[in-house]
Amino acid sequence: MPANLLILGGTTEAYDLADRLAGRGGWHVINSLAGRTANPRLPAGETRIGGFGGVEGLARYLAERSIRAVIDVTHPFAARMGWNAAEGCRLAGVPLLRLERPAWRPGPDDVWEPVETWTDAAETLRRLAARRVLLAVGRQELTHFTDVDDSWFLIRLVTPPDPKPAFQAAEWLYSRGPFALDDERALLDTWAIDTIVCKNSGGEATSAKLIAARERGIRVVMLQRPARPAEVARAATVDEALNWIDGLSDTPIYLDAEDSPYQRGV
Ligand SMILES: NC(=O)c1ccc[n+]([C@@H]2O[C@H](COP(=O)([O-])OP(=O)(O)OC[C@H]3O[C@@H](n4cnc5c(N)ncnc54)[C@H](OP(=O)(O)O)[C@@H]3O)[C@@H](O)[C@H]2O)c1
Repeated sequence: MPANLLILGGTTEAYDLADRLAGRGGWHVINSLAGRTANPRLPAGETRIGGFGGVEGLARYLAERSIRAVIDVTHPFAARMGWNAAEGCRLAGVPLLRLERPAWRPGPDDVWEPVETWTDAAETLRRLAARRVLLAVGRQELTHFTDVDDSWFLIRLVTPPDPKPAFQAAEWLYSRGPFALDDERALLDTWAIDTIVCKNSGGEATSAKLIAARERGIRVVMLQRPARPAEVARAATVDEALNWIDGLSDTPIYLDAEDSPYQRGV
């Protein structure tokens, strides 16, 4: 009988990993979704939805379902689940891998203002006296910027927010990535943008704005990713994660997590 592999999902990479594993066989894949999205697309394999009830709940679930390994493919800005996964897997003695697309890194010609919180981002706009700002952040973050009175905002979202936060001066734009470089160049020029606010999601779908900004010397206020446990093994791509999973078949289950090379990030 194939062993159970738990994917903590909610990202494109998590769907890709489940698809690739289903195509290869050898594992019974259980996907876990937080349950934030109504009627989510279901990944390949079994799916469970909803929180585990913290670290203890996760450790219990791992034992009850005899999970052989966990792959944490939650979003880079999901701040809690990675810590719970590290501690839950340690308690249950289950190997854990973090699969995360690399963060964007500034080059010498980039003008980035790194910030740790959205409050810092709003404060940075005030300090820089930003006049025309492309706000490429999620709908939940908009309220942090409504009282930045001296800036005009171009707010790009996938769909209209309801309710719409009250900005002094803003234009609303609804579109879904990926965004092409020429379109991003035209957007920055048409609206005379001098500052972009976004989060360091990484990946290619939304990186063209950074290239267009670099070409124009436009500042980018970049929200840094939240910290994650340093000791957890990492993969940057689905292929790397599959290699790690392939290496598991001969590996004993570590009842004492201290003994696990995966827990030591090897
Ligand atoms: N934050 C973002 O920007 C973002 C963007 C796109 C997608 N997502 C996805 O949305 C989900 C929730 O994001 P978040 O920012 O609220 O995460 P979070 O702050 O890391 O997690 C909060 C709580 O939600 C539950 N949870 C999170 N991911 C889960 C999963 N895959 N399966 C089961 N329970 C999960 C856990 O509850 P318990 O403690 O009860 O186990 C966790 O303690 C994540 O799976 C993430 O991949 C997040």
